Parts: sequence; C-alpha cells; structure tokens
Amino acid sequence: MLTFDDLLCRARSLAQGGGRALLGVAGSPGAGKTTLARRLVRELNGTGEPWAVQVPMDGFHLADAELDRLGRRDRKGAPDTFDAAGYAALLRRLREEADGEDVVYAPGFERELEQPLAGAVPVPPGVRLVVTEGNYLLLDTGAWRRVRAALDEVWFCEGDESERVRRLVARHEEFGKGHEEAVAWVLRSDQRNAALVAATRERADLVVSLPL
Ligand SMILES: Nc1ncnc2c1ncn2[C@@H]1O[C@H](COP(=O)(O)OP(=O)(O)O)[C@@H](O)[C@H]1O
Ligand SMILES: [Mg+2]
Repeated sequence: MLTFDDLLCRARSLAQGGGRALLGVAGSPGAGKTTLARRLVRELNGTGEPWAVQVPMDGFHLADAELDRLGRRDRKGAPDTFDAAGYAALLRRLREEADGEDVVYAPGFERELEQPLAGAVPVPPGVRLVVTEGNYLLLDTGAWRRVRAALDEVWFCEGDESERVRRLVARHEEFGKGHEEAVAWVLRSDQRNAALVAATRERADLVVSLPL
C-alpha cells in the first residue's frame, strides 16, 4: 500500500532532476485531487521558501458567457468546456520559462462565482515542482494530448465511489445548489464526466488509493 510519505518521496525525486518538474494529479470529479495536491505542496514546502506550487486545471474553465454563446452551459465541466489548448500552452511556458526572470501567472478557479480568475496563481522562477491537478490530464483527444505530453508524471486518484458522489453533492450544496438540484446535476453531468475520466486510469504512471 502506498503511503502519503511514499508520494512525498516520489514528488521530491521528480524535482531532483535538474530543471523544473511538472507533476499531474488526475481523477474523477470529487475524487480528492485538489485536496491531495494542496497537502503535497504544503508538506513539500514546509516553512521555508516555497519551491512547489499547485496549478489547477480548473483555472481553464471557459467563462459562463462563452459557454452560453456555445450553448454548453448545461454541460459545464465536460472536456469541451475548458480551454485545453490554453492549459497545454501554460504548461509549456511553465517548463520553458523556469529559469527566466518573470513570474508566470496561472489562472485560478473561484468556487463562489464558479468562474476562472486570471492571474491568481503566481509561479516564480525559483519553483522546482509544479503540481497541476484536474479531471482530464490523461485524456487522449485533441489538445488534451499536449497536456499529458507536457507533464513528467501523472498520478490517478481514486477511492470509494459512493463516498465520491456524496462529497460531490455536498460540494455543490456548499456553493449554492439545493439538494435536489445538486443530485440531479451530479447524475446528469458529473457522472458522465467521471466515466470519461475513469477510462483514462490505465494511462497513469501511478494509481493512488484515497484516503491516505
Ligand atoms: N481525505 C479526505 N477526507 C475528507 N474529505 C475529503 C478528503 N479529500 C477530499 N475531501 C472532500 O471531498 C470533496 C472533494 O475533494 P476535492 O479535493 O475538492 O476533489 P476534486 O478536486 O478531485 O474534485 C471536498 O469537499 C473535500 O473537502
Ligand atoms: Mg478540484
């Protein structure tokens, strides 16, 4: 059984390769990717100068206005509701400009507004490890392929399915949906996305069973 310390060691050794390392954490909606990436980065950095940074794929959600224009607001969270090419380009920049002079800014995701937020995540030149996390890092279609190609390793997190669905409903409720609406959204939309993500599991370098 993998432990959290095993993951810390593996992440540290990735970063010892010389340049900047890029680690991906994939998994279905609600699997615990963001929580795991945050914990990894916090533990790696300790109290010293930060050398690891978390960059969310969620920062590349298209804005609601654009989803309306595309007629895709009702499937927000599906692969085509993200700017995958923009994400791949940012990952390339994060590698190529690792020893540059400028801070590279990644977008964040504002959960209250459910909108991306430009310039929210600074990645300064000294950062040796980027931990990026999201649903579709291992997708083998379109620009998502360039995302995988930009990463050194991708880990896939999974855990108990009914617990994942329960937490996902709870998160939708926390950010403004009523219970019925949250359940309906999960069953209609999130679960379709989860099936796409689950099919990418075999492409991962490591499968992480949560909780750790
Ligand atoms: N180990 C854990 N124990 C308890 N709750 C957790 C754990 N990991 C994640 N959660 C909760 O489950 C929900 C989904 O986790 P999150 O990390 O946001 O998933 P993802 O980023 O994969 O969608 C969140 O509300 C989070 O607080
Ligand atoms: Mg997340």
